Amino acid sequence: MTHPFVHLHKVGLTYAGADSGAGTAALEQCTLGVAKGEFVAVVGPSGCGKSSLMKLVTGLVPPSEGSIEVAGREVDGPLKIVGMAFQNPTLLPWRSTLANVMLPLEIVEPHRSRLRSDKAAYVAKAQRLLATVGLTGFDDKPPYQLSGGMQQRASLCRSLIHEPELLMLDEPFGALDAFTREELWAVLQDVWLQQRFTCILVTHDLREAVFLADRVLVMSNRPGRIVSDHTVPLPRPRTLATTFEKDFVDITQRLREEISLVRQGKSPVPVHEVAA
Ligand SMILES: Nc1ncnc2c1ncn2[C@@H]1O[C@H](COP(=O)(O)OP(=O)(O)O)[C@@H](O)[C@H]1O
Ligand SMILES: [Mg+2]
Repeated sequence: MTHPFVHLHKVGLTYAGADSGAGTAALEQCTLGVAKGEFVAVVGPSGCGKSSLMKLVTGLVPPSEGSIEVAGREVDGPLKIVGMAFQNPTLLPWRSTLANVMLPLEIVEPHRSRLRSDKAAYVAKAQRLLATVGLTGFDDKPPYQLSGGMQQRASLCRSLIHEPELLMLDEPFGALDAFTREELWAVLQDVWLQQRFTCILVTHDLREAVFLADRVLVMSNRPGRIVSDHTVPLPRPRTLATTFEKDFVDITQRLREEISLVRQGKSPVPVHEVAA
């Protein structure tokens, strides 16, 4: 990959310890590249530094070592071109669903200065996005009248309303039941196929990773680094039927074996050197 859109080079992150005690090394020698428009999933054992990786890429915490570039620029503070969604939908309870979705427009330029004069166009855009995820008619409802899955759909809309070039998803469907989760895989895939933003998805659900991603990266135990890199050659759009096909099952199975080795502190075989 000559010029990755997201590029981490030998990144280390150590959280400071209490008093002057030794800190926690969350990531070490973590190197990865994501091409523009690519959908990459990161999987790894619990506590291996996946959320830390997301915070580094979005500029919420600075690395202790190494360098991070997004869109050709060194990351030195919170990124503006990014959308984010987490396991917990974090919708504001006093705002309607529509007003929640429109929140980034009040913060991110150039939308912020245009919002007042172009209000109707922005509302229409938010409504279109809500329709894409199956939430037509819920604009005026407060989040607490929505199910968990519906809240996560709204949260996805909120992360996309300002058309970010980079979408970062940290276990976005982790709290949902299996049926809702699988429905949302298809929803996310549809939006991605339409908009082709660059996406990094952290998940511990290997089927989710294989369903959604062009490439699945496996992280080692803490301190985390990328220990293998799998291309998912399955055609799109993928459907639930895809998940029962041999190729899908084989890739998922292989990832499962690797994670099991990684959890025992062993290196998955064969080890691929990830392109720097
Ligand atoms: N703000 C923080 N301060 C200190 N240690 C942290 C902080 N955030 C995470 N950690 C530690 O860093 C390690 C990696 O955490 P995290 O990135 O959340 O892993 P994951 O998302 O893969 O479960 C864990 O040992 C965790 O306790
Ligand atoms: Mg996490």
